[in-house]
Amino acid sequence: MIRLHDVSKKYPGGVMALNDVNLEIERGEFVFITGASGAGKTSLLRLLLRQELASGGQVLVNGQDVGALPRSRVPQWRRGLGIVFQDFKLIPRKTALENVAYVLNVAGHSREEQRRRAYNALRAVELHHRVNVLPEVLSGGEKQRLAIARAVVSEPVLLIADEPTGNLDPDLAVEIMRLFREINARGTTVVVATHDRDLIQRMQRRTIVLENGTILDPGKKP
Ligand SMILES: Nc1ncnc2c1ncn2[C@@H]1O[C@H](COP(=O)(O)OP(=O)(O)O)[C@@H](O)[C@H]1O
Ligand SMILES: [Mg+2]
Repeated sequence: MIRLHDVSKKYPGGVMALNDVNLEIERGEFVFITGASGAGKTSLLRLLLRQELASGGQVLVNGQDVGALPRSRVPQWRRGLGIVFQDFKLIPRKTALENVAYVLNVAGHSREEQRRRAYNALRAVELHHRVNVLPEVLSGGEKQRLAIARAVVSEPVLLIADEPTGNLDPDLAVEIMRLFREINARGTTVVVATHDRDLIQRMQRRTIVLENGTILDPGKKP
């Protein structure tokens, strides 16, 4: 699902965020990417999403050379992936249901179909009693579950999450991971960047360790 060949990322100003990274993640895997702050976790995820371009090497995702995508196809590329950020990025003036349903808008589904699928995604994260509220009234854990419903409603082949439990207490973090595991069990490849060692310990999944932009440990399936 993901292949990185000799990938480097150098930011303007000279910081080498990634240095000759080689990595393979198979379809259907659930992997953590960990390492200290500044190790390059977010940079790696941003390359997959084509939010950044590699300075060297090749990034292949689902058979696509991501760096070779024409700029005009980048929005469509991102829509095909499930993305969960630490800061949720919810739309404040849309209800929970609308926040999820609008993702399907661009895919040309009927309004009825959008709402039905959005409701099902909200039910999967146990937010179906909150469909008509605005994000501001939701708790941190509920907001994150809403963000996850939105990320998976289009049934992406790949779910990418950057510190998805960073703002949540440990019990909620475990709950979010349970959802990711369910999504993974339905066939979605899941890649989670986190510096939360307790969480990784509890989950017992392949863990890739980054240090100063290089792979310290590529991890293995437990
Ligand atoms: N947009 C940017 N411009 C310049 N340097 C950056 C940028 N983004 C990240 N960096 C630097 O790249 C390195 C890796 O950062 P990052 O990928 O965010 O690591 P992590 O997510 O593991 O904390 C750090 O030294 C960081 O300061
Ligand atoms: Mg980061």
